[in-house]
Amino acid sequence: MMKDKTYDFGMIGIGTMGRNLVLNMSDHGYSVAAIDRNQEQVEVLKKENEGRNVFATTDPHEFINSLKTPRAIIMLVPAGKIVDAVIQEYLPLLSEGDLLMDWGNSHYTDTNARIEQLEKSKIHFMGVGISGGESGARHGPSIMPGGPKDIFDLVASMLDSIAAKVDNEPCTAWLGPGSAGHYVKMVHNGIEYGLMQLIAECYHILKELLGMDDDELHHVFTNWNQGKLHSFLLEITADIFIQQDEITGQRLIEKILDSAHQKGTGGWTSEDAMELQVPIPVIDIAVSMRNLSAYKKDRMLAGLKLKSPKEMLNGNKSEFISSLEEAFYFSMITTYAQGMALLQVASGTYQYNLNLETIARIWRGGCIIRASLLEDIRLAYSRKPDLSNILLDDNIAEKLQKSQEAIRKVIHAGIDAGIPLPAMMGSLAYFDSYRSSWLPASLIQAQRDYFGAHTYERNDREGTFHTIWNHKED
Ligand code: 6PG
Repeated sequence: MMKDKTYDFGMIGIGTMGRNLVLNMSDHGYSVAAIDRNQEQVEVLKKENEGRNVFATTDPHEFINSLKTPRAIIMLVPAGKIVDAVIQEYLPLLSEGDLLMDWGNSHYTDTNARIEQLEKSKIHFMGVGISGGESGARHGPSIMPGGPKDIFDLVASMLDSIAAKVDNEPCTAWLGPGSAGHYVKMVHNGIEYGLMQLIAECYHILKELLGMDDDELHHVFTNWNQGKLHSFLLEITADIFIQQDEITGQRLIEKILDSAHQKGTGGWTSEDAMELQVPIPVIDIAVSMRNLSAYKKDRMLAGLKLKSPKEMLNGNKSEFISSLEEAFYFSMITTYAQGMALLQVASGTYQYNLNLETIARIWRGGCIIRASLLEDIRLAYSRKPDLSNILLDDNIAEKLQKSQEAIRKVIHAGIDAGIPLPAMMGSLAYFDSYRSSWLPASLIQAQRDYFGAHTYERNDREGTFHTIWNHKED
């Protein structure tokens, strides 16, 4: 039964994520009023909320009247135009000082525009990234809030209580003003794309070069997950290989089409990195490989014409698996390095003033990219908060040094067998370029000046120079 102005929080959108968050909030003592246009979703929540201080309706007026004022309302609806439509629908019902929070994967520029738009009506707006999928929402996600600090303070204890915990610390913290939360979530997803592509490359080489079956793959990924590679994505990968298909009784992975979908957050990360001129090749490659995988028909035709050398493994199988484990570790480090380096630049450019130690800390639990490695990354930023790249941290550099021989060996094997390992290659090329005090960009400068008089800089004196190059006579 709804009572006027008694519920602590409102939730707009009670699909699985929204519903699970409502139950999570209720577990921690918060009363929640929830709304969905879809009567079925309302019924599902009503069934699950027995004995809880939770109220669900399809009526916006009833929903708004049920909330304590000033209201604190969470929106969990698909990113894009729907968010704007929901804002338009509720705006006339809200009062000055109310708070709207968008917990979806919205593009940070949309969040900036919405903050500005709602400011005119004196409604506070926060963009909040949330990660961990359905289970995270129910049992503890990683939460990345951004917005005005004084407004965040009003909801901080609720966020602390529903978030995942690592070492008794909640995997959430205020990240910065404006769209900081959504920006950090976007980069989280970029890293997620990179790690998923790297694991897929390990799968490819283990399956095709070593001829491993799904049980063997399950064992390899399970073993890796017990060591320094410990991470959520490896854990679910190991599980995937032993999942049975309910239709055929065979392993489900064998029945899944090799063409990946995406909602676009990885691509957004690449676009923004290009805009800020920050190199994040592993993430770029991961996006491109999802795109390439979708050309299934073309790939099948090309496979008939374009043959690879198909060399098999030359050497000891278990030694190769250990090298691959090291190669994955190496490329995992460089993937986080690229995402964090982007955050460091964005922090200044967009005036988020991000604390990268805090970000690494709140990613250690609850989210899709949680991994033991994040503790090493957190420590690197605790030693030097303005570190431009974790590759410059002594502890991280030592780890890369130790595993670089392995990644070179794995990439050789992939090249010889015609097995594509683009993210690993991108990762090694990033490392080799980043550690080069000299790069052939001098030639690119010369070429630009030759054909377009774009000028160049010199390494022996200050200034900009142009040369009348020794053009051949036509
Ligand atoms: C998370 C996930 C989540 C979602 C992605 C999937 O952190 O919980 O990242 O946000 O699963 O949106 O993204 P793609 O559809 O782009 O793969």
